[in-house]
Amino acid sequence: MNSRFQRILVTAALPYANGLLHLGHLAGAYLPADIYVRYHRARKRDVLFVCGSDEHGVAITVTAEKEQTTPQAVVDRYHALNKNAFEKFGMSFDNYSRTSLPLHHQTTREFFTAFHKQGVLREREEQQLYCEKDALFLADRYVEGTCPNCKYDQARGDQCENCGSWLNQTELIHPKCKICGATPVVRQTTHWYFPLGEFQQRLQAYIEQRSKRDGWKENVLRYCESWFKEGLQDRAVTRDLSWGVPVPVAGYESKVIYVWFDAVLGYISSAKEWAARSDDPDRWKKYWLSEETKYVAFIGKDNVVFHCIVFPAFLMAWNDGAEEQYVLPENVPANEFLNFESQKFSKSRGWGIDLQDFLKFFPADPLRYTLAINLPESRDSDFYLRDFQARTNNELADILGNFVNRTLTFVEKNFGRKVPHLGELTEMDKEMIARLDEVPRKVSELYEQYRFRDGVIETMNLARLANKYFNDSEPWKTSTSNPIQCATSLHICLQIVRSLAILFEPIVPTIAQRIWTTLNLSSSPHTAGWESAADLELPEGHSFNKPEILVTKIEDSHIEEMVKSLSGNTPPARPALSPEIKPTITLDDFKKIDLRVARVLKAERVPRSDKLLRLEVEIGSEKRQVVAGIANHYAPETLVGSLIVVVANLQPAKLMGQESQGMLLAASDNTGRLAIVTVASELESGGTVK
Ligand code: MF3
Ligand code: ZN
Repeated sequence: MNSRFQRILVTAALPYANGLLHLGHLAGAYLPADIYVRYHRARKRDVLFVCGSDEHGVAITVTAEKEQTTPQAVVDRYHALNKNAFEKFGMSFDNYSRTSLPLHHQTTREFFTAFHKQGVLREREEQQLYCEKDALFLADRYVEGTCPNCKYDQARGDQCENCGSWLNQTELIHPKCKICGATPVVRQTTHWYFPLGEFQQRLQAYIEQRSKRDGWKENVLRYCESWFKEGLQDRAVTRDLSWGVPVPVAGYESKVIYVWFDAVLGYISSAKEWAARSDDPDRWKKYWLSEETKYVAFIGKDNVVFHCIVFPAFLMAWNDGAEEQYVLPENVPANEFLNFESQKFSKSRGWGIDLQDFLKFFPADPLRYTLAINLPESRDSDFYLRDFQARTNNELADILGNFVNRTLTFVEKNFGRKVPHLGELTEMDKEMIARLDEVPRKVSELYEQYRFRDGVIETMNLARLANKYFNDSEPWKTSTSNPIQCATSLHICLQIVRSLAILFEPIVPTIAQRIWTTLNLSSSPHTAGWESAADLELPEGHSFNKPEILVTKIEDSHIEEMVKSLSGNTPPARPALSPEIKPTITLDDFKKIDLRVARVLKAERVPRSDKLLRLEVEIGSEKRQVVAGIANHYAPETLVGSLIVVVANLQPAKLMGQESQGMLLAASDNTGRLAIVTVASELESGGTVK
């Protein structure tokens, strides 16, 4: 971490208290945030980690209406469920707050009133969609229609989930009332606007500076650039609704503040609540009101505009008019989406697994590990139950668990559960110690760059290497042929066991703690300090406790049991075997198929289709359009420039109104994964494939 900073403030997006957390949420924001925080705590840095429930917004009122209860009852229920699930998952928040608290309403009012007084907010009369049947202005999620930007047909009044655009509801094509389905009319109403457009230049400068300083992610910068290119629009920050923070301006008693205005301020309220519990109620200021704080906001990609543009603009506006200066995010490491068994998580289609359900069947750590290794850091990624089982059994159990277990049981048998003497070192020992010395630094670098997936791989690689070292040292032979050498190898192995506990703690905290306790060390791995994982700190003669099984393997039947218990549209526990090979054909049959190398010139989603991408390809001097069902597997921009293989003489076909003049080759396996066949070296397009 740069020495400019004294402390770290970490926030993770406040989840709506309107539904249960699923695995996609964890991979988007929460797990990376928790790994980051736990790592920094091990570095002995002063960290504050806050989160909480986002309890306003129309989604919640809609749920309350559906369930014929009050919004408060809805948020009470989901807040408790999600808070509990986060705890079980091992999230180490310093505080988990909620935005319906009076303390938060007060924070929100303070900001709104300040902006109002400073003349930042503008009052404007405008046209809004109004449902005559329900006698209601259709704010935000009360209305759905087609996105003017990407043509997704379920865009909401304020935001398109598909392309992430922030919308004005009157921009929606074919709007429909979410409650009754009727087409709304347009009516006049008055609202307060935040002049986002006036902040554009400063926001651009801010993002440029911070992204240079702290290395912002490509995907995040791309989103920001596209909004700047369009030009930022002024936005209404009040709504004709009753659930939310009441607008603190006379004449506005029947309106509330827009949910995104108050939600981002929830991070501040959560820190205040945390401080209020201690004997120093002002200590939140040390984090929020200081240039020496490094503030990192973890979110999923659908929240980028609010955290990179809206929230910083609010803070700038506050800082313009007050002595207290809030710190702006130093980085906003947003992840892409995680799919479940190669399809989008979807509450309405019942696709996916809630965290609560998952944790009824399996402990948190194997889930954390599998998610960490599949984090959608630069593109959408997938979670497969098969992969979860394989990672748990073949990596956590057979690599990490096995190394710890074989080391401890071997020492127990041969040295009576005491750390043996470190004698003269062989080349192999020296090599192992040198590798151990590197790992904490390497993983640090990756974590500091928000590359959690690579950090986790690097950490598991140390356990892999340690197993190899154990094998190559052949202690079962040296125990009789060269006992001093045997003691030395096992001494080193025990030191690695200790280091692994420290390095694995951010990823699998429960397993790490179990190793630590078995080693008979006090407190927790992080108290020893991250850097000490590079050292040989277990004293000779130190005695440890009886080893137990560290990681339980997952049987097919466990997975099947969970899948069976899930309601709705559940995925197959065991994918079908690969299809049978088709009947033999002659060489002449095969030669009828004209396979060609094609270069992708352009790629984009087909409007109104979840699955299809439209590619423009070049085959020699010819240009063609190819439509392929690969949108769930590839982000279009990643394909441009690649060399693929197409069937060039296939009869053209129409897919969703688009003509496909050829078919691209793609490989798939029985887990639902899919990979386009690409040509590995630079060839001219138009070349033949045989
Ligand atoms: N509730 C929002 C979501 O789940 C996230 C809110 S983040 C906050 O998409 F910063 F606004 F709190
Ligand atoms: Zn859209």
